[in-house]
Amino acid sequence: MRSKRNRHLTSGKHIRSVVRGIGSYLPANKVSNADLEKMVDTTDDWIVQRTGIRNRHIAAEGETTSMLATYAARAALDNAGLNASDIDLVVVGTATPDYTFPSVATQVQASIGMTHGAAFDVQAVCSGFVFALATADKFLLSGSHKRALVIGAETFSRLLDWKDRTTCVLFGDGAGAVVLEAQEGQGTIRDRGVLTTHLRSDGRHREKLYVDGGPSSTGTVGHLRMSGREVFRHAVSMVTDVMTDAFAATGTSAEDLDWFVPHQANRRIIDASAEKLHIAPSKIVVTVEDHGNTSAASIPLALATAVADGRIKPGQLVMIEAMGGGFTWGSALIRW
Ligand code: ACO
Repeated sequence: MRSKRNRHLTSGKHIRSVVRGIGSYLPANKVSNADLEKMVDTTDDWIVQRTGIRNRHIAAEGETTSMLATYAARAALDNAGLNASDIDLVVVGTATPDYTFPSVATQVQASIGMTHGAAFDVQAVCSGFVFALATADKFLLSGSHKRALVIGAETFSRLLDWKDRTTCVLFGDGAGAVVLEAQEGQGTIRDRGVLTTHLRSDGRHREKLYVDGGPSSTGTVGHLRMSGREVFRHAVSMVTDVMTDAFAATGTSAEDLDWFVPHQANRRIIDASAEKLHIAPSKIVVTVEDHGNTSAASIPLALATAVADGRIKPGQLVMIEAMGGGFTWGSALIRW
């Protein structure tokens, strides 16, 4: 994989998946830590100290993942100056689909009025956006597709046991989307676009973070269950490993990064990962305070925030990474 990528980087013209547009959506209902104090035995102080989270957005009754995904997709198309007819691939990272089937991606496809191309979901929980982006990138690099909507969308509020204080304070709902377009680059790391992706998983960790239901086991949706300490223990080494892989594959280092946009699960995991790789605090985009952990939506939501406020600019080098249930974990290095 690495030697193939290096061949691409030295062999002249090369297709790159360039980010052409970005959009996001957060449900209107904002829930603060003070609101949660009224529901479970917790305090604002405990939540802020352990996670950095102060607020999260929760989808309204009847507001589904495909609706959030559609709002984000439309915003990304507008931002790109494109129509649904310009897109030939929709890949949605989600672990909270409206239905067991059809996929969220095909619902988005119908909602935006796209009747051609292909649409499917990718299920890698909190790593869903990185896995979806890597998948779309490979479709574009192969030449089979030209423009992809890559979406991370979740309604984790529907999976939570609202009586379990150890999990219900951590998560929120939302969606983010990017439009990737196949463009010709020079085959160097100066090219705009996705420069490298690195995906990992290890199913032996299932019991540390899972949902205790599903169509083929209980016939119910189930609730999220997590051994928080165990997840924390693995998270930093796993995400820093795949970031190190990305640096090695491209001959870059933490110093070359303009922005580090991690999965927004927990402020302490983010800071410890950045510290381990010597990434300056000023380069980290953090939205966990206002969004909570929105699983697959967290990275595109953070990217959209930092693009909208002018931090991330075209030509800059951006590292994204995530780790989630499975375990799954991954990174992507993108020249914006
Ligand atoms: N409010 C008040 N007290 C609480 C709460 C709460 N919401 N939740 C737990 N506690 C209590 C516990 O009951 C425990 O009390 P005890 O000592 O009397 O038994 C005490 O706080 C400490 O609990 P721990 O679970 O040991 O707390 P820890 O310091 O590990 O923090 C946390 C918990 C925040 C979940 C931490 O382990 C963590 O961040 N883990 C990573 C979780 C994560 O990020 N998951 C998502 C990544 S993957 C993905 O995104 C799907």
